[in-house]
Amino acid sequence: VYENQISASIYVAQRIAAIITHKQSLGQHAVLGLATGNTPILVYKELVRLHREEGLSFQNVITFNLDEYFPMQSTDANSYVTFMHTHLFNHIDIPSKNIHIPNGMLPIDGIAGFCDTYEQRIASLGGLDLQLLGIGLTGHIGFNEPGSTFESTTRLVTLNSLTREVAVDDFNGLENVPTHAITMGVSTIAQAKEILLLAWSQKKASIIQQALQNPISAEVPATYLQQLSNVEFVLDKEAASLLQ
Ligand code: F6R
Repeated sequence: VYENQISASIYVAQRIAAIITHKQSLGQHAVLGLATGNTPILVYKELVRLHREEGLSFQNVITFNLDEYFPMQSTDANSYVTFMHTHLFNHIDIPSKNIHIPNGMLPIDGIAGFCDTYEQRIASLGGLDLQLLGIGLTGHIGFNEPGSTFESTTRLVTLNSLTREVAVDDFNGLENVPTHAITMGVSTIAQAKEILLLAWSQKKASIIQQALQNPISAEVPATYLQQLSNVEFVLDKEAASLLQ
């Protein structure tokens, strides 16, 4: 639990940088699972600063994003492709061929094959060295909404109505918020070597309390993380305020 979002985000960026430089020293790739949304923005800002001011190179980094809305044009202001380039990729030296984000522009009959390939690519690289997570008010991780199973893999999902309401301002009205997304599954996330779940502010206090202290259930998918040993929750004081 950190004093505020800034100190917590600097800690998370340092954890990521340590993996990157360790892998560099071994001549290996660092395989990172990344999240979008408000929560990781300062983490990405600090990674950009480490690149610009302290010479941290991302040449050996391969990334897989958790999710993308569906359908979604990559050039749309609300796409996660746009988000990732705006906040991170445009400002660092990651080779563009190393960036993977679920494709929101696929024809429906291309989705299953795309999802299988996404899983296989991660596996063929030896799995994710680190997965960054935020948490939704429904308890979703990625877009694994209530009802998602522990065994779920990358797939097309229907967004929960609360999740869509939270996105209303970005899309200028509920009718414009996508109804679906492509997301890594709970099992895809669970296989990462390390998982960092980040949450800031009072708004997240109740769902953080449920995620850590409710019985494990599909009703709050983040509770699945309780059965893993490689998970760290990084919180600010407000997000941690309901933990007993
Ligand atoms: C984003 C993602 C989501 C968000 C969650 C929290 O890639 O997978 O699970 O992490 O909806 O969003 P923010 O950070 O905007 O509160």
